[in-house]
Formats: sequence, C-alpha cells, structure tokens
Amino acid sequence: MSMQKPSTADRTMAGDVIARSRRSPIEEEASLLALEARYCAHGDSVHHAEPPKIFDHCEGSYLYDIEGRQFLDLQMWHSAVNFGYANRRLNDALQRQLNRLPQIASQYLHRERIELAAWLARRAEAGWGERGRVHFNLGGSQAVADALKLVRNARGKAPVFAFAGSYHGRALGRTRVDLDRPHLVPFPSPGRRPRGMSKEEHGEECLKQFTRLLETECGGARDERAEARYAAFFVEPIQSAGHVIPPRNFFRELKTILDRHQILLVVDEIQMGVYRTGKLWSIEHFGVTPDILVFGKAITNGLNHLSGIWAREKLISPEVFPPGSASSNFASNPLGTAVALETVRMLDEVDFGESVMLKGAYFLKGLEELKRRYAIICDVDGLGLALRMEICAEDGFTPGKAMVERMVEEGLKGDLEAEGKRHGLVLEVGGPEKNVIALAPALTISYEEIGLALKLLDRLLHRVTRR
Ligand SMILES: Cc1ncc(COP(=O)(O)O)c(C=O)c1O
Repeated sequence: MSMQKPSTADRTMAGDVIARSRRSPIEEEASLLALEARYCAHGDSVHHAEPPKIFDHCEGSYLYDIEGRQFLDLQMWHSAVNFGYANRRLNDALQRQLNRLPQIASQYLHRERIELAAWLARRAEAGWGERGRVHFNLGGSQAVADALKLVRNARGKAPVFAFAGSYHGRALGRTRVDLDRPHLVPFPSPGRRPRGMSKEEHGEECLKQFTRLLETECGGARDERAEARYAAFFVEPIQSAGHVIPPRNFFRELKTILDRHQILLVVDEIQMGVYRTGKLWSIEHFGVTPDILVFGKAITNGLNHLSGIWAREKLISPEVFPPGSASSNFASNPLGTAVALETVRMLDEVDFGESVMLKGAYFLKGLEELKRRYAIICDVDGLGLALRMEICAEDGFTPGKAMVERMVEEGLKGDLEAEGKRHGLVLEVGGPEKNVIALAPALTISYEEIGLALKLLDRLLHRVTRR
C-alpha cells in the first residue's frame, strides 16, 4: 500500500498542534490574542473590554479560562443560559437529536417543532384564556421583525411605540430610520426619576405623559380622524438593559390606555422570559395579556438557537398569516426545537417559580446589605433572579459609569480572594447610563454560590472604593 507524502499545509498544521501542546497556557493565550488582533473584525461587543477575555470551558455557574481559573458568572450569556452551563439534561436532549434527526429543511415538519408549539400555545390558553399560534425563527431580532409583520398585517404601515431604554434588537429602530424606528415613551427607571419622587409616582407620571401624547390634537399621536396613528406598543416588562423593574400596577394601567386607543401590546420576553423573574413570562407578574409575545434565548439554554412569537388567533390565523409570510432557512431547526421541548418538559417537572423567587429574595437581601455599606451603590432591586445594583458618585445621583467599567475589568482579572481561593467574577454592564451591574445568575445557582457571589462583590467594591 502506498502512502501519500504529507503536503506542506499538513506539515504546518501538525507542527502547529505540537507547538500548541508545548506552549504554556499564558503563551497560548497571548498567541490567540495576537491572532485575534490581526484577523478578527471588531464590529461586535468583544472589544468593549480591553484586553478581551478568552474562556476555555464551562460548568454550572462557572466559566474557566485557559489557565484553569474559575469565574463565577453573574450574567449567564445575558440570560441565555438560565439553566446553567453544560446542563446535563438539556445537553443530552441535543445529543439525542443530533443522533436521530439533526437536519431538516424548514418546509418539512418534525415532531419536536409541533409539540413545542402546542406546549407554548396551550400554556397561553391556560394562563390567559386566549387561543393562539406559535411561529418560530432563529434569533431575537428576527422574531421581533416577525412580530412587526403581524402588526403591519393587522394595522397597516402605522408606526409603533417602545419605551426609552428598552432593547428589541436590530429589527426595531436600532439601525433603521424608517417606520421601524419607534416613538420612544419614558419608562420609570431609577436613574431618570426626579429627586424626591417615589417609584410609583414616577410610573404614574410616565403614563400621564403618554396619555397626554395620545390625546394632543396637534403634533400628537392622533390622525385627522382623531384616532391613534400608532399600531402597537413594544415593551419589555423588565428592561433587560439595567434590569429596570416598573411598579406592579404599571402595565395594567398602560394596557387600559392601549385598549382605549386600539393599540396592540407586543411583549418582548427574549431576555426576561423562561423563569428569569420567577414566572415563565415576566409579564405574568403584571396581570395583563399580550396580543403578541416574543421569546428566544433561554428557551434552548443558549444551545442551538431558536426564537419565536406567540400571537392571538386573530393576528396569526392562516387567513391573515398565510404560507410564506415569514420563512427562513433555519427557523424551527430540529436541534433548537428538541432542546426547547426538553426545556419546557423540565419546567413541567421542576418548580422554578418558587425556587427562583426564594433565591432572588436571598440575593437581594445581600445586595441591600452591601448598599448600606457602600455609598456608591445608589439603588438595588430585583424580581426573581433579575437583579440590579446601580452605581453613582458620592452625591448618590450622578451615574458612576467609569466605576462600573472598573468593576467589570477587576472581576475579569480572576484574583478576588474568598474562602481561601482566588476567583473571578463575570459581570454585565447595563442601564441607559451604563452605570448598572445587571445581575442574572443561573437559576440553578445554589445558596452557597449566592453567598460566594455576595462575598466577591464585597471584595470588588472594597477594592474599587479604596483610596
Ligand atoms: C429583550 C431583547 N430583545 C431582542 C433582542 C435581540 O436578540 P438577538 O440578539 O438574538 O437578535 C435581545 C438580545 O439581547 C433582547 O435582550
């Protein structure tokens, strides 16, 4: 048998493998960063941190870097990994699907897609008494665009409202200057609250301003027939940027106003859904029924992507949303739907509602204690395990953006000491003023790990406030 001589490229690759195995972790990291600096574009969010951080593996609530240092993750891929990294049950579901039906064009059916849609629609029917249907897509922005299509089908090309400070991805007004740019309405966020006003009073004030806008004859939101020119209001019940939690009666009052003007309510649950706040959908805390609901992220625990919309029957029935209205190659992909189906089966079996509320209350109590001790913390709040710690200057008001950046950087150094070991912390910056640490730990985090998180935040605050 004749053996082919290895090509130059093969020899180079083999040499690379040997060289890599001889390198120390520090050398390997430096060499990867040099490659990145030369060949990777900087258009995404990687270079918000300098130098950017490389991670190597993950498990539960932790990420590990190339040197094997452990980092407690308190943002969990912006709430995409609610059920912990490398969750065995969900990973196994993905593996089973990989072995059976990993690929199938989106024009054909597979059982996971049907059963998942049925679970979500039945859940909505049981909770809200509303019949509806589910349409899948791949990313969050695409699902928001699909929701916009339903709104346009129902109401024509009218513009939409959204709250200042909300995030709905690229589909809604981030990069486009046409009708998709929503009219922004003020949201009761602590950083924007006039001094001396309570959270509830601020909520009422925001709604009053919105009502005034709708009821102004000239230059307002009404057309020549005195009807609202706007088709829908896109909302995040808890704003993902900064985890801003409005007063409990806020959405009920908003919905009354919207119904009066026949404006649809579209609820974006991409980041706050799937038990992040202790309910399947965060809007369930507020006692209103959406017309359209958008989901994504944690439904697959950050594994193969899947997003989608649920809508009331009259907005999504085959008569108004016929075949071909919104198709995409990878929508309802079999890997994503299989993991999502396992996620919802797990939700039927495990009571995340109760455990998330209890763990969230325990974590928030610890944050309140830190607020008493550190003057730079001007607000803490939480709903389930969507928590926030707002940082201000010593006047208790001026946003402490630079301080938050420093906290994130120090966390990534991996040298905070607690319980006789060195740890890193992975933190997320949020809020319109970029002065909020938005905390989203795994819903599977243990009480011991919450204790560790609080200790590490204490060490970090001590370090950045030391003179
Ligand atoms: C609330 C919300 N809506 C929409 C999006 C956009 O999703 P994607 O980045 O998958 O397009 C995000 C992403 O973080 C989000 O948090």
